[in-house]
Amino acid sequence: MTAQIIDGKQVAAQMRAELKDSVARLKGQGITPGLAVILVGDDPASRSYVTAKEKACEEIGMHSDDNRLPSETTQAKLLGLIDQFNNDPKIHGILVQLPLPAHIDEDAVLLAIDPNKDVDGFHPVNVGRMVVGQEAFLPCTPHGVIQLLLRSGVKLSGAEVVIVGRSNIVGKPLANMLIQKSATGNATVTVCHTRTKNIAEHTRRADIVIAAAGRPNTITAEMVKDGAVVIDVGVNRVEDATKKKGYRLVGDVDFEAVSRKASLITPVPGGVGPMTITMLLYNTVLSAEKSLSRCN
Ligand code: GUN
Repeated sequence: MTAQIIDGKQVAAQMRAELKDSVARLKGQGITPGLAVILVGDDPASRSYVTAKEKACEEIGMHSDDNRLPSETTQAKLLGLIDQFNNDPKIHGILVQLPLPAHIDEDAVLLAIDPNKDVDGFHPVNVGRMVVGQEAFLPCTPHGVIQLLLRSGVKLSGAEVVIVGRSNIVGKPLANMLIQKSATGNATVTVCHTRTKNIAEHTRRADIVIAAAGRPNTITAEMVKDGAVVIDVGVNRVEDATKKKGYRLVGDVDFEAVSRKASLITPVPGGVGPMTITMLLYNTVLSAEKSLSRCN
């Protein structure tokens, strides 16, 4: 079997066109959705993510307030800036790019963001609401994975899903979202991690394998059954002297070999990546819509 490729760029473009219409409608009602983006330090990967987020806001007509702070920025200064955006009616979403420098307490920073502006869905209030099935801002990467599956016609209800990776940003929230009793859930989920005894034993019986481990070749062809759907959330830089930048991006899946066995597969780049930013735009538009209903 040769897998069909799930084109994340195409799905993201379709969703962004829908969001552009929503932004135009909100502007007609006197509101421009606004996102504050805060980057502390100069990690190259974080810098390129943040630039892509700012560009995406602009493309759909949203306002973005870009804040690039030096790596020696104090926690107090960062908390002050968050407080300023919490109280700014032009800002509907606040995103602090992670990871933060070691001297800053990440938990304290995430807790300082107004849950009504937490478009990353990382605040414990939103995490808790998501877990118990209440309305919440859903974290962007896992929500993007689910949209990608649904919009590619993959049935989640009753599916055996195996997630490899248990991060707070992807694995844990994705598992929670997939077990919800809702149209975007109803799956049977297993989460594998670094202490799992035999990961292949689990992935081999999965209808859907989701790799979010942050390590190239975590999923090889022997680890997936014929016809499985394979979603690759990994973004890893590997040295490549033939490239101008000196590296290339690969996911967590051995794409060449696995695509000969799977029925559907996401590439890296061009799979989950474009969806993450799209869901950030989605949450910011949703936040602006909610602020409008709070005013009325
Ligand atoms: N770092 C890696 N992924 C993310 C994300 O989705 N949001 C934020 N804020 N930081 C990240």
